[in-house]
Amino acid sequence: MEQKWIKPPVETRYQEELKALRENDSGLRPENWKLSPKAVRTFILGSQKEIHYSGGVCRIRRKYFGNDALVERSIVTLAGNRGLMLVGEPGTAKTMLSELLSAAISGVSTNTIQGTAGTTEDMIKYSWNYALLLANGPDRRALVPAPLYTGMEKGIITRFEEITRTPAEIQDSLISVLSDKLLNIPELGDEGFLFAAPGFNVIGTANTRDKGVNEMSSALKRRFNFETVQPIREAAMEKQIILNEVESLARENHVEMEPDEDAAELLASTYHELREGVSSLGHRIDRPAAVMSTAEAVSVYYQTMISGYYYGDGTMDVDCLVQNLTGAVSKENKDDLEKVRAYFSTVIRDKSSREGGIWSRYYEARKWLK
Ligand SMILES: Nc1ncnc2c1ncn2[C@@H]1O[C@H](COP(=O)(O)OP(=O)(O)O)[C@@H](O)[C@H]1O
Ligand SMILES: [Mg+2]
Repeated sequence: MEQKWIKPPVETRYQEELKALRENDSGLRPENWKLSPKAVRTFILGSQKEIHYSGGVCRIRRKYFGNDALVERSIVTLAGNRGLMLVGEPGTAKTMLSELLSAAISGVSTNTIQGTAGTTEDMIKYSWNYALLLANGPDRRALVPAPLYTGMEKGIITRFEEITRTPAEIQDSLISVLSDKLLNIPELGDEGFLFAAPGFNVIGTANTRDKGVNEMSSALKRRFNFETVQPIREAAMEKQIILNEVESLARENHVEMEPDEDAAELLASTYHELREGVSSLGHRIDRPAAVMSTAEAVSVYYQTMISGYYYGDGTMDVDCLVQNLTGAVSKENKDDLEKVRAYFSTVIRDKSSREGGIWSRYYEARKWLK
């Protein structure tokens, strides 16, 4: 029987695309890379033409929308053996990009350290199996590899999520590994070295909202090329992302309901305008303090969709959409809800009188903003 997961890793989710790319890949490949930089780019940014491979025909879907040059630079950074640090607001697809890069380059996206205030060096480098350690003394069999060790040993990418949540002195344990590609294991005496296999590299992500929590040291910063991932600036693109994402979420969770374009449009423009501080009709808007991220918009939409699927009549309910929006914006700050209410009573009111239809229903649903 086929194994099922709630959220399969990228390499499983896009198994066929990766296989098709591999079979058709004639580009130059850095040592130990599964795909050439050209094919990695195609995997992330998609391609128009269909490709033939042993499994049939396949079209590579675009997965990241926005800055293509950033994706190219990131791949080049990794091909040049420099660490890559993706920084930006929450919900700008930093994690998604690092998973896509990892899956395309190394074939796995799961060799990951999750940075938290409690992350220790053990969780990054290695620890010991104490039973074996006591029985045989320190040798390699008693060593329990952590993601950095695994990446160096196998020649694959180690992802370090939310690195700035980790105390600075712990972050700094990466410095010598990144510059010398060598890990010291003092417990093993003369044999206490692990040299990194080709293909090893580190992709870190950091949220600018965490800035100042545990600022990275300048020594560590020098070991990475930084790329700032910007929020989407176009409402139309945001709408497309919402539709793409909820469509695949629904497919994976066997929710048999077609995404509704109009509802995606409402939500995309709401998130876009609240983030930008100006409406398409020219109103100035007081921006909420919370991050109005695309990821959040996807989750509000999907939440509404599954309510409609399980409780409703299988369509998107605008009242429910506004209730979920309320939950999302009032999470951090009470004043934000007031700002969204003001947005409804100006911008949505005007759109409602111009466009009618779903905009009027959206305007009427403002009673749920409480
Ligand atoms: N530019 C984008 N292209 C495609 N999807 C995006 C983009 N920005 C945001 N998303 C959506 O939002 C989610 C971002 O989540 P994530 O990668 O966890 O963000 P971050 O790590 O930056 O907080 C993605 O999974 C995707 O659904
Ligand atoms: Mg993230």
